[in-house]
Amino acid sequence: MESNGMEYQNPEIAKVAGQLKEKLAGLQDKRSVLRAPELAALYESIKSLPAQKRAAFGKEVNQLRKELESLVASQQSTVKELSPIDVTAPFDVNVPANKKPALLPAQNGSIHPLMKERDIIIDIFARMGLTAVESREIDDDYHMFTSLNFPVGHPAREDYDTFTTAEGLIAPAHTSTMQNRVLKKYKKNLEAGKAIGVVIPDRVFRNEDLDARHEHTFYQIEGVYVDKGINAGHLVATIKAWLSSYYQKEVNIKIQPFYFPFTEPSFEFAASCPFCEGKGCNVCSHTGWIELGGCGMIHPNVLKEAEIDSNTYTGYAWGFGIDRLVMLKHNIEDVRHFHSANLKFLRQF
Ligand code: DAH
Repeated sequence: MESNGMEYQNPEIAKVAGQLKEKLAGLQDKRSVLRAPELAALYESIKSLPAQKRAAFGKEVNQLRKELESLVASQQSTVKELSPIDVTAPFDVNVPANKKPALLPAQNGSIHPLMKERDIIIDIFARMGLTAVESREIDDDYHMFTSLNFPVGHPAREDYDTFTTAEGLIAPAHTSTMQNRVLKKYKKNLEAGKAIGVVIPDRVFRNEDLDARHEHTFYQIEGVYVDKGINAGHLVATIKAWLSSYYQKEVNIKIQPFYFPFTEPSFEFAASCPFCEGKGCNVCSHTGWIELGGCGMIHPNVLKEAEIDSNTYTGYAWGFGIDRLVMLKHNIEDVRHFHSANLKFLRQF
């Protein structure tokens, strides 16, 4: 057998075999060789052959077809090495679309689950008459501590261990850093006989040991409401209405005394576990309750710091973790999924 393939007894078939193999090399669509008129003509000629020659001839034509098929298959699977793309070359807008290199497969992105849920939460508060304000991702000691009634050197500062720059700027450990700013900004509402009602959803940072429930970066939603005659009943009713709307079911709530320098009284806020409806399950460690955040009546010193008369006006505030709320809503077992950039996780939302 020769190196260039099968040998054919019939000179006509041998000739066509040579022609088609040569043709094959230059073909874009390799399979089209199997539809070549030369091959069809060989098949066509079978019926005009004398009966005793047909079988041998037909067998060789079939052999040729098989050979061509296997050549097509082997050439199709050959990976052609392309010359590397010059990434520094300017993009040529005149190149027709089908000639442009396919750089990346196009695929629609999706909104990150935390951002999607944040928007749902903002919408709920918008319907309740509260305005959303953005926080900031770098702040100072005054807004992080002093304006929130943390005395200098007070141990409560230790609860908010976060990242600082060499210049002393702070990556905020909570959205409460915005309280003084929104109180000052919307003070004119009070003068016009209206309430201050603001929510502040944004990113916060903590020096944490990471685990399924703790991330160094997460989202909080702060709420601030001030008017005449506001009491803790308003606080509880507002949060309960929000959570029931968010989870689309009646959520039972529980508050217990706590300590924050910027509220008096201060509470820790828990909701009945939406998974077991308070009966006890793995998610709520069989307590029936899930802690969502802190809240309380705004401390008079915080109002005074924003030049609001704390004898005339009172208010409440809260700060809840958005990641925690979303985990409960979608049964997500590990907070670290949110920042993992794992497309399998993200594409579920
Ligand atoms: N900033 C607190 C924290 O991150 C949560 C908090 C508690 C916010 C009470 C408030 C509040 O506005 O009144 O731990």
